[in-house]
Amino acid sequence: MTDLPAASFRACGKLILFGEHFVVHGGPALALPVTSVSTQVTIRALPGREPYRFKTDALVSEAEQARGLVDLALERLGIDPCPGPNEHWEIVANSSVPIGYGLGSSASFSVALLGALARAVSRPIAPEELKQHAHALEQLVHGTPSGIDDTVVSFGRPIWFCRDRPVQFLDPPVNVNQFMLLASSGGPGSTKRAVSRVQALRQAKPERFEELCEQARELARQGRQAFLARDLQHLGRLMDRNHELLQIIGVSTPGLDRLVETARRAGALGAKLTGAGQGGFIVTLVDESTEVEVRQALRRAGVPQVLGLG
Ligand code: PMV
Repeated sequence: MTDLPAASFRACGKLILFGEHFVVHGGPALALPVTSVSTQVTIRALPGREPYRFKTDALVSEAEQARGLVDLALERLGIDPCPGPNEHWEIVANSSVPIGYGLGSSASFSVALLGALARAVSRPIAPEELKQHAHALEQLVHGTPSGIDDTVVSFGRPIWFCRDRPVQFLDPPVNVNQFMLLASSGGPGSTKRAVSRVQALRQAKPERFEELCEQARELARQGRQAFLARDLQHLGRLMDRNHELLQIIGVSTPGLDRLVETARRAGALGAKLTGAGQGGFIVTLVDESTEVEVRQALRRAGVPQVLGLG
């Protein structure tokens, strides 16, 4: 019997600061890793004849889908589903990334799974390779994802992302992350449904949609500059305008709008939904003088969870 120790890999969540949805249609987007939530996958070889055994906490409702992801991950990495004669893999996933809330739960799971499997067989895996395999797993979950989630989670760095182009890494001079708060609307959304809705809008009104894409491109470009220059006032205003665009394409909800408004009224520099929308989280930008007030206002508005980015 092989005597392999348990192998673990932890992957972060993510947030999209500019360009969600438009990125699916070729626009640029800016995304950041979120380390205050993460997924850890631990794998070990145990005696037994059955194929691998999969255990999870947070992903319970997605367990069947997760099994499909495990099969694909094993295949892509060329790992035998049985580690040795009369042995099976035990795969345990624990995640604090809420599912369907726009924080990259499926990408986080995929990256943690691939990383842990590679470690379990002592196979080195670089972030670039992780990303390629995680993208294939994301396709199983979402159909035609842009790739932004798997990229930011695989590299764990702020990125400037354009579909089918090489990723660019952004290194802000000072950590802007500490000025961002994430607030949960209390209900999940469906990325597939939200993406199809935007696709339907594009088909129904192609010219209008192209105008909106152009505005989103410009916002993202300015957002990138403000982010890199740490111009928080400007960054906040751009986030507000990005939220308006997301409202226009129909992926916000009254609940998300209310939270965005609550944060702004409490003194936030800007706020927007993040990710696919129709539920999930908002991200709001604060500074030292407004953080406490914004947190309190969001809690009073019934937000179950206010998170920093980590
Ligand atoms: O699944 P989410 O909420 O992390 O959203 C992903 C971002 C989208 O732009 C809506 C979809 C995509 O594939 O880029």
